[in-house]
Amino acid sequence: MNENKKIRIGVVGSGRGQSMMDYCTKYGNAQLVAICDNYPPALERARRKYGDAITYYDDFETFLSHDMDAVVLANFANAHAPFAIRAMLSGKNVLSEVLPVQSMQEAVELVETVERTGLVYAYAENCCYMPSARKMREAFLQGRLGTFEYGEGEYMHNCEPDWDALTYGDPNHWRNTMSAFYYCTHSMGPMIHISGQRPVRVTGFEAPYNARMRRMGAKGAPFGVEIVTLENGALIKNLQGVGPSRNSTWFCVYGSKGRMESAREDDKGHGNVRTLFENLDTFEGENHFDGHETDTDDAISKQFEQSGHGGADDYMMYEFVQKLQGNPDADVIDVYEALDMYLPGHFAYRSVLAGGVPIDIPNLRDPAERDKWRDDATCTDPAAGENALPSYSKGNPDIPAETYEALRKKMEARDMWNQ
Ligand SMILES: NC(=O)c1ccc[n+]([C@@H]2O[C@H](COP(=O)([O-])OP(=O)(O)OC[C@H]3O[C@@H](n4cnc5c(N)ncnc54)[C@H](O)[C@@H]3O)[C@@H](O)[C@H]2O)c1
Repeated sequence: MNENKKIRIGVVGSGRGQSMMDYCTKYGNAQLVAICDNYPPALERARRKYGDAITYYDDFETFLSHDMDAVVLANFANAHAPFAIRAMLSGKNVLSEVLPVQSMQEAVELVETVERTGLVYAYAENCCYMPSARKMREAFLQGRLGTFEYGEGEYMHNCEPDWDALTYGDPNHWRNTMSAFYYCTHSMGPMIHISGQRPVRVTGFEAPYNARMRRMGAKGAPFGVEIVTLENGALIKNLQGVGPSRNSTWFCVYGSKGRMESAREDDKGHGNVRTLFENLDTFEGENHFDGHETDTDDAISKQFEQSGHGGADDYMMYEFVQKLQGNPDADVIDVYEALDMYLPGHFAYRSVLAGGVPIDIPNLRDPAERDKWRDDATCTDPAAGENALPSYSKGNPDIPAETYEALRKKMEARDMWNQ
């Protein structure tokens, strides 16, 4: 490992991408060298913030010719796979924002590109690096929780107050067309990373369309639930969506030696994902029942605690940079695990469309399984044409053009591109 190697990073997408850009300017182990965005106001905003030492691009292909070690993909969530594939084919390591893919066809091509190029592909599921989730994983690795038996994750986010800024009043923005199930990895991801298990079967349950989603102009269900079976037979219940009335980011795991869970959002005395309760036996069958709050800081987390999502954002970038500096123990999420986090949602929606039947989740580590899925481009992106599914299982709701017009005006009144 070469800790003195400064990793040169280029970022595509200057909305969420600013979190990764900021990381590069803070700690000295990474350098922001290029920024790409094809929306001029977004690119200009980045130029004002990051200054003239950076090279700015409005075209992804030209950006890829820049001399850099890695590309961070923070472009549209339903466009990551083709961008990751292009980046790796031009010799760049990749950190991909959520989601990894939107179809099985993309999943097969992504896996095979990672294998063929041998480059680092890391999935930026930052919730895995939230203090409570990190400590739960550590407890399983140390054997303190015993065998993984059950996990529950929630990522419920009432996005109505900011939907105009998130979608710009564009009826076809990915946030308006995506099934509630696809954006599952913020809560499914930690469960997969903590358990170290592969998901093998899923059943999906879709909440009914609601007035909030109609006001937002979003066509998917407000939230969805997946019940997942893991390879050891253990279970996960996962709940996520952008249209509930209240927020919840919460993780809970039961092992054979006890339980760990983060604090609930309304527990004001605690910092939710920074707070962890553990209730563990020292040996199986002890039945000690002693629940108490436990420390979530570790030697390196203190410096990151001010960063987004409970300190997770910078922690995740730290691990990615460590990986590129040659640390074999860096905690990054590879392409197979990224798909283990995403495919339960993808197939949960198929389960709903098939009337609520359990569906097997493919294992794309196995080359023999890939051929079954190589040509399957099914997803809820309207651009998929004849392969496009409705965003909501009962059919896309009719949303009047005035809804989007009002959202666009609200977004313009924020003057967000000049800040
Ligand atoms: N992990 C998290 O906590 C978290 C939080 C927010 C967003 N995200 C993810 O970050 C990504 C970006 O989300 P966002 O909130 O910034 O909104 P967004 O998806 O609307 O913004 C994407 C940005 O990429 C740019 N872009 C899109 N296509 C491009 C292209 N072909 N070439 C150059 N630039 C292009 C757009 O102009 C825009 O500025 C999404 O994948 C989203 O899922 C993750």
